[in-house]
Amino acid sequence: MSSYTYFIILFLFPSLLTVCAQNHTYVYHDCPNTTTYSSNSTYSTNLRTLLSSLSSPNASYSTGFQNASSGQAPDRVAGLFLCRGDVSPEVCRSCVAFSVNDSFTRCPNEREAVLYYDECMLRYSHRRILSTLTRSGEADFRKEQRIPSNQLERFSNVLLSTLNQAVTDAVKSSRKFDARKANVTASLTVYGLVQCTPDMTRQDCTTCLQISINQLPIDRVGGSFILPNCNSRFETYPFYNETAVKTPQPPPPPNPPMPPPPPVSAPVRPAGKGGNSNVLVVPIVVSTIVVVLLLIAGYCFFTKRKKEAYDTAPASDGDEISSADSLQLDYKMIQAATNGFSESNNIGRGGFGEVYKGTFTNGTEVAVKRLSKTSGQGETNFKNEVAVVAKLQHRNLVRLLGFCLEGKERILVYEYVPNKSLDYFLFDPAKESQLDWNHRYKIIGGIARGILYLHQDSRLTIIHRDLKASNILLDTDMNPKVADFGMARIFGMDQTEENTRRIVGTYGYMSPEYAMRGQYSMKSDVYSFGVLVLEIISSKKNSSFIETEGARDLVTYAWRLWRNETPLELVAPVIVRNCQVNKVVRCIHIGLLCVQEDPANRPTLSTIVMMLSSNTVTLPVPKQPKFFTQSRPKKDLLDSEPATKSNSVSWSIDDASITELYPR
Ligand SMILES: *[C@@H]1O[C@H](CO)[C@@H](O)[C@H](O)[C@H]1NC(C)=O
Ligand SMILES: *[C@@H]1O[C@H](CO)[C@@H](O)[C@H](O)[C@H]1NC(C)=O
Ligand SMILES: *[C@@H]1O[C@H](CO)[C@@H](O)[C@H](O)[C@H]1NC(C)=O
Ligand SMILES: *[C@@H]1O[C@H](CO)[C@@H](O)[C@H](O)[C@H]1NC(C)=O
Ligand SMILES: *[C@@H]1O[C@H](CO)[C@@H](O)[C@H](O)[C@H]1NC(C)=O
Ligand SMILES: *[C@@H]1O[C@H](CO)[C@@H](O)[C@H](O)[C@H]1NC(C)=O
Ligand SMILES: *[C@@H]1O[C@H](CO)[C@@H](O)[C@H](O)[C@H]1NC(C)=O
Ligand SMILES: *[C@@H]1O[C@H](CO)[C@@H](O)[C@H](O)[C@H]1NC(C)=O
Repeated sequence: MSSYTYFIILFLFPSLLTVCAQNHTYVYHDCPNTTTYSSNSTYSTNLRTLLSSLSSPNASYSTGFQNASSGQAPDRVAGLFLCRGDVSPEVCRSCVAFSVNDSFTRCPNEREAVLYYDECMLRYSHRRILSTLTRSGEADFRKEQRIPSNQLERFSNVLLSTLNQAVTDAVKSSRKFDARKANVTASLTVYGLVQCTPDMTRQDCTTCLQISINQLPIDRVGGSFILPNCNSRFETYPFYNETAVKTPQPPPPPNPPMPPPPPVSAPVRPAGKGGNSNVLVVPIVVSTIVVVLLLIAGYCFFTKRKKEAYDTAPASDGDEISSADSLQLDYKMIQAATNGFSESNNIGRGGFGEVYKGTFTNGTEVAVKRLSKTSGQGETNFKNEVAVVAKLQHRNLVRLLGFCLEGKERILVYEYVPNKSLDYFLFDPAKESQLDWNHRYKIIGGIARGILYLHQDSRLTIIHRDLKASNILLDTDMNPKVADFGMARIFGMDQTEENTRRIVGTYGYMSPEYAMRGQYSMKSDVYSFGVLVLEIISSKKNSSFIETEGARDLVTYAWRLWRNETPLELVAPVIVRNCQVNKVVRCIHIGLLCVQEDPANRPTLSTIVMMLSSNTVTLPVPKQPKFFTQSRPKKDLLDSEPATKSNSVSWSIDDASITELYPR
């Protein structure tokens, strides 16, 4: 299985893609060109048998899902189909027949394939596919048209809460399906649909749908994110059959009482030979029990093994979704992709190492981070931690796709985010005008949601510890993606202690308690977020602030303007004319709350997201942030730390500049 996945962005979702004048709209397919079968092999015969059983008149079109397998071990092929939860058995049957036919054309001679259509999906493989989460063969679609910015906030809130409710109900239902709508405004309604293949456990279904929803383009009028095990989609028109969804479905006999295995049906394909291997179409229940047992066993194993390392062990690791090995990439491939880590491919220096742009032979672009070799992390730990971090997926986080180990060399491979980082625009007088107020407001909201996910919504609590403008990457639409999270884990720094011996952080963004005493918590990220908000609004850098009206740093300056009731003086001149005054003031207010000296007075990220999205939440009055002119840090904080970015603080014992807090 390819360890990275293919992202495609297709504008104007399906209709343009219709190939021939058929009813079933083709959406996407993936058949990795790595393993093929020859046309009169046993595999070929088995596959045809399998496909004909899936498209036989006896298949379970009324439940919309069927799995089957054919043949024995080396030539065994497993397959399934899934019809969208609202389609009738007739449409389901016709879609499956269509997709079986289509698979011969789109994926000739390939051992595994997944094909998606509007109403159904067909999948087969020589591997185990049932009850196994995977991300190969996923795809991302978005409508080109955007939601007007004055409605965006409300739209995205309504959309996400609708989809989250749909997920809650879908995982509980026997079909693992839910579709619903909600009013955004009197004239704007959003329709959402989520579905898992019913072989997924509740836990895996939830995981999969969260991945899917987290990647949806919530600033567009429609989009979807499909994976082999689940999918989600939203539109601003009813794209599913509302009557079919509303009518309480006659409870289809749930899993256990399934019809006995039907005999092999006639081949559907003219060229097909008569299938004569045995086809297994047995109730889900057996596999479900096996999977549950495996999950329990796996859970016990993993929690036992990982207990020392994590404060919160992942709830289940029985899935394949980011098992360490599937994330491991070949060193030669990475070397080739980056032209041997050439200077011309170097796109920057992040914390922990150089970053290169890479292009794989299939055209996938990636960012390759070559870690500085001083990491103290053992190989197994490294792999495990990468697997943990790779599970953190959110549209406002840069995705970790894989890693590579070669001798002492440790490499992380990330999705490539086309625009540069936020600081590149924000602090450059020639470029800052490219970020208008709407961009900046969207960026603030996006960063907040990304960090909230790290803090709260992912199964682990991850504290970023080095949130700063250069760690915020921007995609082509100027959507923010937080980079460099989870590095403390990957580098094997102790996360279980609230006090850390090693300080990773950057001048100007570190909270007083972290900078002075090495104490970090989610509230230290909140502090950095506050600084970032003030920087985004003012286009001024906290760490290289030019003394203004007696204030030696941006935070103090912002506070003084606030106290003098002239907060708008903080706003960057390029945006001040076209900004929404109430929102700007609210953002400054939130920024000031985040940089309060006492961590207890700083809001949590979930409160911040709420404050940003609702004008009715009243904000507390900020107190004066304190200068930090404290004593030198204790010696034991000053442990060696791999050099990070040049303007990052990486204190050593002889770095006496600690009290010189506002370098110029
Ligand atoms: C197209 O849809 C119509 C009904 O809407 C159906 O009767 C017909 O069989 C479909 N054609 C194909 C090729 O599926
Ligand atoms: C698949 O591989 C064959 C050779 O192995 C090559 O000729 C063909 O172009 C490949 N197809 C795709 C879609 O990559
Ligand atoms: C496929 O079948 C043809 C004739 O039926 C035979 O000549 C050919 O060698 C076979 N190929 C393989 C790979 O078995
Ligand atoms: C399958 O494809 C064949 C030709 O390739 C066509 O004649 C037949 O109608 C197709 N069947 C369906 C159900 O689309
Ligand atoms: C949405 O609005 C319509 C009319 O504007 C109303 O009839 C309907 O009840 C509303 N639905 C919900 C879920 O609020
Ligand atoms: C929608 O579903 C209902 C109930 O299942 C069915 O009667 C109706 O024909 C469906 N409409 C369409 C357009 O498929
Ligand atoms: C479908 O099932 C019926 C009886 O339930 C059986 O007679 C028929 O042969 C089956 N057809 C296929 C193609 O499996
Ligand atoms: C699906 O396939 C698996 C393995 O082949 C089998 O154990 C299970 O019973 C099948 N389920 C159904 C519904 O056919």
